[in-house]
Amino acid sequence: MTIKITVAEARGIEFIDRDVRLSGWVRTRRDSKGGFSFVEINDGTSLGNIQVIVPQSLPNYETIIKTITPGSSVLIEGIVKKSPAQGQSTEIEATLIELIGESDAATYPLQKKGHSLEFLRSIAHLRVRTNTFGAVARIRNTVSYSIHRFFQENGFIYVHTPIITASDCEGAGQMFRVTVIDADNPPRNNSGKVDYSQDFFGKSSYLTVSGQLNVETYCAGLSKVYTFGPTFRAENSNTSRHAAEFWMIEPEIAFCELSENMAWAEKFLKRLISDVLTERREDIEFFNRTDTTLIETLNNVVSSDFVRLSYTDAVAILEKCGKKFDFKVGWGIDLQSEHERYLTEEHFKSPVILYDYPRTIKPFYMRLNEDGKTVRAMDLLVPRVGEIIGGSEREYRLDLLGERMKEQKLDMEAYRWYADLRRYGSVPHSGFGLGLERALMFITGIGNIRDVIPFPRTTGNCDY
Ligand code: 4AD
Ligand code: MG
Repeated sequence: MTIKITVAEARGIEFIDRDVRLSGWVRTRRDSKGGFSFVEINDGTSLGNIQVIVPQSLPNYETIIKTITPGSSVLIEGIVKKSPAQGQSTEIEATLIELIGESDAATYPLQKKGHSLEFLRSIAHLRVRTNTFGAVARIRNTVSYSIHRFFQENGFIYVHTPIITASDCEGAGQMFRVTVIDADNPPRNNSGKVDYSQDFFGKSSYLTVSGQLNVETYCAGLSKVYTFGPTFRAENSNTSRHAAEFWMIEPEIAFCELSENMAWAEKFLKRLISDVLTERREDIEFFNRTDTTLIETLNNVVSSDFVRLSYTDAVAILEKCGKKFDFKVGWGIDLQSEHERYLTEEHFKSPVILYDYPRTIKPFYMRLNEDGKTVRAMDLLVPRVGEIIGGSEREYRLDLLGERMKEQKLDMEAYRWYADLRRYGSVPHSGFGLGLERALMFITGIGNIRDVIPFPRTTGNCDY
């Protein structure tokens, strides 16, 4: 009996001497003089291909073989054999080969020679057929699954927070407006401004920058919760680490103070990395070929304790280090990526959790410290990528929350529901947000956020 298997299965020893059927996309074809063609097939189930040996004796060989070009899709039947060749344990001796979908060799953009990541970005619809993007996609999948496993195993409840919202969680004014108003002919109020009270929701609405405020409400009833969804930021920063649309994981934990929050963040990140190291070994080894210290770095991160350092101590280190930064260091500044990189890559050579930031540079919801100057914020920084997690203990005292909201000129009435959590059974609670793409950059060693998400959205780019 012929069984249907994947390329990943065909590459293992389990199916040796069995009659199998498999399908995939052709990576390469080589015709030998000895009466055979060698066709490499990949179906995305593994990084490596399976080599199929197609004998000239097949009845349709002459008519079909010239159409078996890179990018075409094929159906193969044959027998799995132990391979005498180096670097592969099995190969397939075809007894049947059929072309499913042709691929014009003259125009197919993926040639055997390697392509630059920049070029591949211009063909985002085909790039998943390369080793790099296949590996990224599999690792992204594994990390996503691992995120759910981690939280589910630890008793967290998964909560779906809204994509469309009226509140600006981070208070940074970087939101995309959601509207059905005709931009060419908008209703106007008495002062001549666009009247959003006539818009779909009867008020201004936006794509969410974070699910935190909503998930906090569920935390105040379910104790341990998390969201995992897309978030949007209209940051006009054309960097390799910022996307306008990215995925964020935000746990929120009741009866939890900042130091416990830091422990959760550290344990969580380590778990994601160790799952990839064991479950996506072949893909990680592939990335380790370009970035030869990758596996070593990841292993170190999993096995070492992260440094914990107050913002104030970090600024002191940066001021004393003698290095010339583009942005001058001083207490009260928002740390730039060059400062974060110095701390993780040169000073500590390890991930660092910074905490207790100046109140003036952090959002309204963070708990004020006794010093009155700092808030219980934390940022987890890693080498190369910089900030990968941002979080805090939340301000759970109604009066102090009110003060912070006033300070940041927030409309108290619009956030009344949020303040209610501090009116009825308020508890100390904390949480954080991990940027999925930042985590993937760190795990794969890929330097640009555009290459760890299938269809990147950045300033000026929304092509698909
Ligand atoms: O530090 P951020 O802005 O924190 C929050 O949104 C909090 N509400 C999280 C919370 O406490 N529940 O963002 C969290 C993380 C960052 O550390 C970073 O990894 C990622 O989200 N991030 C981005 N990733 C890609 N592109 C962007 N433009 C990003 N902005 C933030
Ligand atoms: Mg942040």
